[in-house]
Amino acid sequence: MTITQLTTREGFARHRRLRQSAGLRRLVAETRLSPADFVYPLFVTHGTNIRAEIPSMPGQYHISIDQVHREADDLRALGIPAVLLFGLPASKDATGSEAYADDGIVQQAVRAFKAADPDIVVVTDVCLCEYTDHGHCGLIVDGEVDNGSSLDVLAHTALSHARAGADIVAPSDMMDGRVAAIRETLDDEGYVNTPIMAYSAKYASAFYGPFRVAADSAPQFGDRRGYQMDPPNAREALREIEADIAEGADIVMVKPALPYLDVIARARAEFDAPLAAYNVSGEYAMIKAAGERGWIDEQRATLETLTAIKRAGADIIVTYHAKDAARWLAQS
Ligand code: PBG
Repeated sequence: MTITQLTTREGFARHRRLRQSAGLRRLVAETRLSPADFVYPLFVTHGTNIRAEIPSMPGQYHISIDQVHREADDLRALGIPAVLLFGLPASKDATGSEAYADDGIVQQAVRAFKAADPDIVVVTDVCLCEYTDHGHCGLIVDGEVDNGSSLDVLAHTALSHARAGADIVAPSDMMDGRVAAIRETLDDEGYVNTPIMAYSAKYASAFYGPFRVAADSAPQFGDRRGYQMDPPNAREALREIEADIAEGADIVMVKPALPYLDVIARARAEFDAPLAAYNVSGEYAMIKAAGERGWIDEQRATLETLTAIKRAGADIIVTYHAKDAARWLAQS
């Protein structure tokens, strides 16, 4: 840091000069939030004419495929470039077979989005927890979440998404080696140009609670601490990210966002790959709940949160606030 003015005649600097008006503040803002930063997560379900509000996530909905064009219209109008799809399967089983079925709910939704608007970047969450009857993100062998056999199923899930037309596949399972397994399968099948956005530093977090209600994906025994990261660890996050980049990840992610801003900042300083942060369901629900009670100004708290995530170093913010924030940004 260079100090150009050691002491002023007054003996102190007038930091307030540049804070006097909205115009001045805008001019010197170091971080600018834009709808172009956002990825909007969406839950798709079987059936028709369904738009059911998710109780744990006010303002978010389970939608059926016939509603996809409406969502595509909203995203286009608001300037949000991308959607991240999660599916609620018709039935669950031990291997999560709807996850990789050609006519699975996510595969149908990908086709519907690309038909509604080919310019929308369709990202798919690659994981098994919504599709398995045990609710874990991989396959169970001898009572344990088994790494090796899970890789096969995850790679086939990613492939089925790419075949349906997904623009990006995003593995969130936290098995070791899944980025390499997915890259190899995609390449073998001719999908060399399908990028991978890896949930690289995904912590075993209490902030996923509302999502697990929404996706009906809570584990039926045990928890996810055997594969998701332990909250005290930040250096380990850098090792996870490094490994994912080496395995072929095009975009890396830190998740959750707000309790891990230090990890986002360190990842930004250490790596030059595009960096995403997932502002998760619990972060969303806290602001919504306090806002509903009048305990917090929802609009200001939301924009402040998203700005903080970007300021920490995220290029891409996955957030349920995307539509509201885009509307508020357009008004400001
Ligand atoms: C699937 C998955 C989860 C989330 C995204 N992908 C849940 C989990 O790991 O339990 C959480 C998203 C959120 O809370 O908004 N593995």
